[in-house]
Amino acid sequence: MKNPVMPASGTFGAGREYSELMDINRLGALVAKTVTLKPRDGNIPPRLCEVSSGMLNSIGLQNEGIDHFLKHDFPFMKEFDVPVIINIAGNSLEEYAQLCREIDRVEGVSGIELNISCPNIKAGGIAFGASSKLAEQVTAAARYNTQLPLIVKLTPNVYNISKIARAVTSAGADAISLINTMVGMSIDTNTFKPNLGNITGGLSGPAIKPIAVRMVWEVAQSVKIPIIGIGGISNALDAVEFFLAGATAVAVGTANFINPLTMTDIISGLEAYLVDKGFTDIGQIIGKVKT
Ligand SMILES: Cc1cc2nc3c(=O)[nH]c(=O)nc-3n(C[C@H](O)[C@H](O)[C@H](O)COP(=O)(O)O)c2cc1C
Repeated sequence: MKNPVMPASGTFGAGREYSELMDINRLGALVAKTVTLKPRDGNIPPRLCEVSSGMLNSIGLQNEGIDHFLKHDFPFMKEFDVPVIINIAGNSLEEYAQLCREIDRVEGVSGIELNISCPNIKAGGIAFGASSKLAEQVTAAARYNTQLPLIVKLTPNVYNISKIARAVTSAGADAISLINTMVGMSIDTNTFKPNLGNITGGLSGPAIKPIAVRMVWEVAQSVKIPIIGIGGISNALDAVEFFLAGATAVAVGTANFINPLTMTDIISGLEAYLVDKGFTDIGQIIGKVKT
């Protein structure tokens, strides 16, 4: 990676629309929207709703499935001079394993990110990322089926994030990304109906940033593998907070919807921050919060 800034999965598609507005080659990496084995229709609309300092979404992992992705989206993504990370999700360990096997054979993929915020159907619908045992199992299943760098993306909807981080690390994760969205709800006071068709959805944007910084800091105390910090990052100083907490890279989601140039602004802003503070390398601030 030429710099530590990338899009957060699901907020950048395959980069097609953004490529008309910004120079994708400036990014540290490209991260695709979650892809599943079979196509998924996603949840019933409305699926987006603006809330104080952020938004709720209940897209429900709508996508065309891995075959379509590899045929139509991946070829577009790999044309850029940027590493491509494919984000995957499944309903079972077998689905994660099969996706890893298929992606492992594809040339030009730089890594796999496991979205483990989705329910394990066989375990009664509990999210893989909500139990250290399931998180360990899904990481091990993926690890067994790919040689590619493996990033495990954690859900913040847990009590003890460090325990989950340790579980995925011991099962073979090469890096951890966090956080995914937090479960939230919003209600229309005129109709008395929830603002999302799915009733609840994932909260993202500045509203979750302090929680994300806290979780990155906790995870950085618990494991030695690299951390990609995500959650409400909108400008270079937001990113700096994540580096100080212990992240070695950052991903930007919701802020891209407000300003499609957010990531390139952050890349330039980080450089200016380091020069201003007399640093020559981002490594000089990683984990340097004074507690
Ligand atoms: C509209 C939308 C769609 C998302 N889709 C995905 C997805 O497909 N896979 C995934 O791992 N995370 C998905 N996320 C979560 C983001 O990648 C990110 O973890 C989260 O939004 C927090 O970052 P932010 O506050 O910068 O948006 C989605 C978020 C939003 C807002």
